[in-house]
Amino acid sequence: MIIIKTSEEIGMMKKAGEILADVHREIKKMIKPGITTMEIDRFVEDYLAERGAIAEQKGYQGYKYATCASVNDEICHGFPNEEVLKDGDIVAIDMVVNLDGWLADSAWSYGVGNISDEVKKLMDVTRKSLYLGIEQAVVGNRIGDISHVVQSYVESNGFSVVRDFVGHGIGKSMHEDPQVPHYGSPGRGIRLSEGMVLTIEPMVNIGTYKLKIDDNEWTARTLDGKLSAQYEHTIAITSDGPVIITDQGEDR
Ligand code: MF3
Ligand code: CO
Repeated sequence: MIIIKTSEEIGMMKKAGEILADVHREIKKMIKPGITTMEIDRFVEDYLAERGAIAEQKGYQGYKYATCASVNDEICHGFPNEEVLKDGDIVAIDMVVNLDGWLADSAWSYGVGNISDEVKKLMDVTRKSLYLGIEQAVVGNRIGDISHVVQSYVESNGFSVVRDFVGHGIGKSMHEDPQVPHYGSPGRGIRLSEGMVLTIEPMVNIGTYKLKIDDNEWTARTLDGKLSAQYEHTIAITSDGPVIITDQGEDR
């Protein structure tokens, strides 16, 4: 069942999203060789508390951290840890902010120190595929229109897009209907209507889209060990077009 949001509710989600965008802007300043993802995780939890918000992921289905921190070949659901990030690494930080019961979800990839041209391209293609998907998030289009544009752009650049994790509706719960695959055919799936709020969150791999799950039963990593990137926004579908709930402004 898809839960439609009123404009007031979308306004509440926007407030959660503004805090989340601020967190990502702060993380961008912190990322450098020598920092650990656990330091970032602690920063996020404290920062959210200061802003009167809660890290929704902590305690969700037994997950223990405020953020997911997925380094290099990790696709998603990486655990923050005490290992230092190294020059040339890529790390995706994902989190869900709860402000007064309303949620916003956004992941962002960061290059650590000096990154290779290949990593830069992976990040640029992944981020661009997200924004192309967002352009399709308009009243009257179908889910498949989003899926298709993301997949075609990614594959035309020689990369692959993960099948096993999808975007989702979001509101007072982290995962609501509908699912939003990042691969598929235009004109397929449910029709988008005003008041739907969805995440679009392509995970893009340099090599195969196939993955394996670590023994910790959470962390997904690429089967071939090649790198993966992710960008995610929460999007409201309105009569004025897509509204990016977690917009970071200039950082596109
Ligand atoms: N933020 C993730 C998403 O985009 C969910 C993380 S799973 C959790 O769906 F358990 F860590 F919360
Ligand atoms: Co997320």
